[in-house]
Amino acid sequence: MIQENTSFAPLRNDLTDLFSRPISYLRLSLTDRCNLKCMYCVTEEESSGGLSKLLHDELLTYEELLRTVRVAVAMGITKVRLTGGEPLVRRNVLSFIRDLTRIEGLDDVRITTNGVLLEQYGKALYDAGVTKVNISLDSLRPERVAAITGVDCFDQVWRGIETVLALGFSPVKLNMVAMRHINDDEILDFARMSQQLPLQMRFIEFMPIGASSRWNADTYISTDEIMARIGTLGELIPLQKGRADGPAKVFRLGADAAGTLGFISPLSHHFCDRCNRLRLTSAGMLRSCLLHDEEVNLRSVLRNEPTDAAIREALLMAIRNKPRGHQLEERMHRSGSDCHGRMSRIGG
Ligand code: 5AD
Repeated sequence: MIQENTSFAPLRNDLTDLFSRPISYLRLSLTDRCNLKCMYCVTEEESSGGLSKLLHDELLTYEELLRTVRVAVAMGITKVRLTGGEPLVRRNVLSFIRDLTRIEGLDDVRITTNGVLLEQYGKALYDAGVTKVNISLDSLRPERVAAITGVDCFDQVWRGIETVLALGFSPVKLNMVAMRHINDDEILDFARMSQQLPLQMRFIEFMPIGASSRWNADTYISTDEIMARIGTLGELIPLQKGRADGPAKVFRLGADAAGTLGFISPLSHHFCDRCNRLRLTSAGMLRSCLLHDEEVNLRSVLRNEPTDAAIREALLMAIRNKPRGHQLEERMHRSGSDCHGRMSRIGG
């Protein structure tokens, strides 16, 4: 038998779930706080100040996060994404990120951000080894961005995008949640942008979570409809799936386009069978599915029984509980049945 060289990789991934999915990707929500109030994320209660933010003690400390990631990497996690809320608003986040990217065996640390602080932090992120970024941008019209996010931030975000492109981040992905009557008249503008700029423009189906009162069957637009509209602009050339594409189906709009298009269809073509993710919420709860509320309380382990063995056991328990698939479709047809934790705490 040929012995493969496994000196840099774990002998096997310990983190395979009950449905044979290897779990290699950990998403860390660093904070539930955000400098924007996006209409699909913030509930009415939250925007009127009715729901409290986590207290400082309820958040995992940076040491607790680093310790968890070290254990997880030794078990087979190879990729970490920082999310929020807005991850860049947490105090001293850069020094945490420098420590994180130094963890041996962890070569892929990415960030999802609203872009407001990217002009300021882009260079430091790049120097720390975070060179892959996803940026949420739901409109290219400043007044509309202000209406969707509650903050007049388009120019700031755009400068952030220019900053990361100039620094050589790759990939740079822009996320647009497609919503009928809200921003669907810009789908073609976004698609054309992927021809001019070396980025991946991603269209995400609107999910009935977070501020779910905003979701309704009319606002939702399927990937098929989005693709049909974009198809009127030119040929959609399918690309070989790259490792960096995650659940997106990726195309180029015409052979000469500088960038690509990604389509993410959590509702119409869910990707649960390929899901390799585990999440750690800002409150320190391990969550094996964005859309299932079952959580393992890692914070309590870290504070009451802080051994590597106990952390490992908590990670294994979360993975053992990972459901085969989400039940969004079923849930959509039941009214008033949304039971999910808040996006800002779980991490988008
Ligand atoms: N449906 C689809 N995408 C969402 N996001 C947040 N809430 C929703 C929702 N209800 C996306 C944001 C961001 C990413 C972190 O999650 O647009 O790009």
